[in-house]
Amino acid sequence: MRDKWSSNLGFILAASGSAIGLGNLWKFPYNAGANGGGAFVLLYLLFLILIGIPLMISAITLGRKTQLSVFGAYKSINPKWSFVGGLGVICGFIILAFYSTVGGWVIYYLKTAILGGLNSTDPIFLGNLFGNLMNSPVELLLYQFIFMLITMFIVLKGISNGIEKASKIMMPSLFIIIIIIIIRSITLNGSLVGIEFLFIPDFSKINMDVAMNALGQVFFSISIGMGTIVTYGSYLDKKDNLLTTSSMIPLLDTLIAILAGLAILPAVFALGFEPTEGPGLMFITLPAVFSSMPLGNLFCILFFLLVLFAALTSSISMLEVAVSYFVEEKKKKRVPSTVIIGIIIFLLGIPASLSLGTWSFKVLGTLNFFDLYDKLTANILLTTGAFLLTIFIGWVLKPEEAIKEIESSGIKFKLANIWTILIKYLVPIAIGIILINSYIDFIKSILNIS
Ligand code: PFF
Repeated sequence: MRDKWSSNLGFILAASGSAIGLGNLWKFPYNAGANGGGAFVLLYLLFLILIGIPLMISAITLGRKTQLSVFGAYKSINPKWSFVGGLGVICGFIILAFYSTVGGWVIYYLKTAILGGLNSTDPIFLGNLFGNLMNSPVELLLYQFIFMLITMFIVLKGISNGIEKASKIMMPSLFIIIIIIIIRSITLNGSLVGIEFLFIPDFSKINMDVAMNALGQVFFSISIGMGTIVTYGSYLDKKDNLLTTSSMIPLLDTLIAILAGLAILPAVFALGFEPTEGPGLMFITLPAVFSSMPLGNLFCILFFLLVLFAALTSSISMLEVAVSYFVEEKKKKRVPSTVIIGIIIFLLGIPASLSLGTWSFKVLGTLNFFDLYDKLTANILLTTGAFLLTIFIGWVLKPEEAIKEIESSGIKFKLANIWTILIKYLVPIAIGIILINSYIDFIKSILNIS
C-alpha cells in the first residue's frame, strides 16, 4: 500500500518543512539585500498572493487527485504532459546539488560554533572565516557529503516515520529561536536603517530583474515548480481540507522569510556589514549578532542546529521527488534508488561547492557553477515548471475538475471564481512576461553580454 501522512497536521508540517529552509533563512535575506530591500519584499509579497498561493492550491490538488508523484500525476491526466514531471525531477537534482553545498556550510558552522570558534563581532574576522572555508576543498566536500548522507538516511526511512516525526519538534523550535535573534538584532544601535531598508520600498529600485528574482524566490521558497508539492500532496487523504493547507504553507513560509530578514538585515547595518554581501551574508552576520548577546554561543549552536534541520526537511523533499519517480515509474527498489541518486547529486554538487573558492572560474559566460545552478533552477526551471503547471491546470485539466476535487472533501471553495481567473489568465501572463526576461537574462549571462 502507498504510504500516507498520519494526519493532516503531519502533512502541513512536512510540506512547510519542505518550504521553510535555506530559501527563507539564507537566500531571502541576501536576495533582498542585493535587490533593493523593500522593493524586493513588496514584489515578493505581491507575487506570493497573486501567483504563489493559487499555484499552491493547483499543485496540492493535482497530487491528491491523481494520488501519484509528479511524473505519474501529469501522465495520468495527459501523457503528452509527462515531460513536466521529468523537468521537475531534473530540477530537483540540480537544486539539491547546490543546496547540499550550503547545507555543508551549515554543518561546518555548527561544528565551529560548538568549538567556540565563532565568537567575534569583527566583520573582517568573520568575513575571512567564511572566505577560508570557501578555499578549503576537503572540508567543503566532507561536510557536503555528510549533509547528503543524512538526507539519504531520512528518505530511506519513508514518509510518515522519518520526515513527519522530526518536523513536529524542530519547526516550532526554529520559530522561537528566530524571535530571540530578532529581539537582539533590532535592539542593536543603528538597526533602524536596516528595518527601513527592509520595509520601506524605494519604488525607483523596481525593475524587471528585481521582479525576476522576486518571483524566482517565491517559487524556490514555497517549493513550487518542480513537483515537490504535487508529490507531497499525493500522500494526502481524500478527506483533508485542501484550501486551509494550501494557504497555511505559503503564509507560514513567508512569515519565516520576513522574520529571517528582520533577524539579519538590521544587524547588517548596525554592525557594519554589507547588505549586498551575497551567499555569505547569513554566515558572516549572524555570528556577530550572537557574539553581542548573553549566552550568545549557546544560541549560536542552537541556531545552526535548527537551520540544519530546516535545510534537511527541504532537501529530503527534493530527493523524495526523484526517488518516488524511480520507484513508481521505473519500478526500482527504494533503497538502491535513494543511494544511487544521492551519490549522483553529491557528485553534481562538487563543482558548486568549490566554485566560491578554488574553482571560481566561469563555466558559462559570467557564471560560475554555483551561480549557474542557482539561476538555472530558480529563474529558469522552477519558473518554467510553474508556468506549465498553471497552463496545465487552467487549460488541460480545467479548473472545474480541480474545484470538484477540492470540494470532494465536503468543503465549499468560496473564491473558486477568482482562483479560476487567476489560474487561466493572470498567472500565466504574469509568469510568461517574467519568464521571457529570465530567458533573455540567462542567454546574456551565458554569452557574456551585459
Ligand atoms: N523551499 C526550499 C527552501 O526554501 O529552502 C527549497 C526547495 C525545496 C525548493 C523543495 C524546491 C523544492 F522543490
